[in-house]
Amino acid sequence: MVKLMLALDVMDKNKALTMVDEISKYIDAIKIGYPLVLSSGLDIVKEIKDKTNKEVICDFKVADIPSTNEKIAKLTLNYADGIICHGFVGRDSVEAIQKIAKQYEIKTHHKKKVIMVTEMSHPGAVEFMQPIADKLAEVAKILNVDGIVAPSTRPERLTKIKKIVGNIPIISPGIGAQGGELNAVLDILGEDDYIIVGRAIYKSENPKESAYKYSMLLKGHNG
Ligand code: C5P
Repeated sequence: MVKLMLALDVMDKNKALTMVDEISKYIDAIKIGYPLVLSSGLDIVKEIKDKTNKEVICDFKVADIPSTNEKIAKLTLNYADGIICHGFVGRDSVEAIQKIAKQYEIKTHHKKKVIMVTEMSHPGAVEFMQPIADKLAEVAKILNVDGIVAPSTRPERLTKIKKIVGNIPIISPGIGAQGGELNAVLDILGEDDYIIVGRAIYKSENPKESAYKYSMLLKGHNG
């Protein structure tokens, strides 16, 4: 069954906590990025994890040299179940994060996911990222990362990238506010994949109802 990941890009700690309280039963995972962490501190990751017991992925799109990536991964994976990084900086930078994830896994017996961006979902991604996205997907496959990010806004690209990465799970943003069509995407994604939905849930008039609606659409599609 395709899973639902909430992009919790609100910039207020109390709003974030109230939101997850209300809707966590309708979602499978929560993605936390810079808007929430920079406004509330990294501890918000632990707070949301403790409160919801959902999978929590930090979308920090880490893109630095290996030794700095290691430090970012150490701080992040102490609380989060996974971290999103860029691959265009080179495979050594991704491997540095994988090394830290492995160390945590050995220490905690708990899976820590390293998820790599291939192509972003916004219009500007066609400028520099799209031309190298297939290569990035090939690298993701070689590195055997735990997931890749690919766009729901371009179903034809999603199909191509999925073909390259094979059984590596896809997490796909772009449904809702960015205009991605849910049905087109659900025809491509499989049971280990996720759609990411942010504004269409947290900015809607009734976030609880919106999250419920998405969860039902996923259930309906999965039969
Ligand atoms: O609000 P919306 O549903 O557009 O949120 C999409 C989320 O996915 C945001 O957190 C955005 O930063 C993230 N994202 C994206 N495209 C990518 C990678 C991440 O939109 N390729």
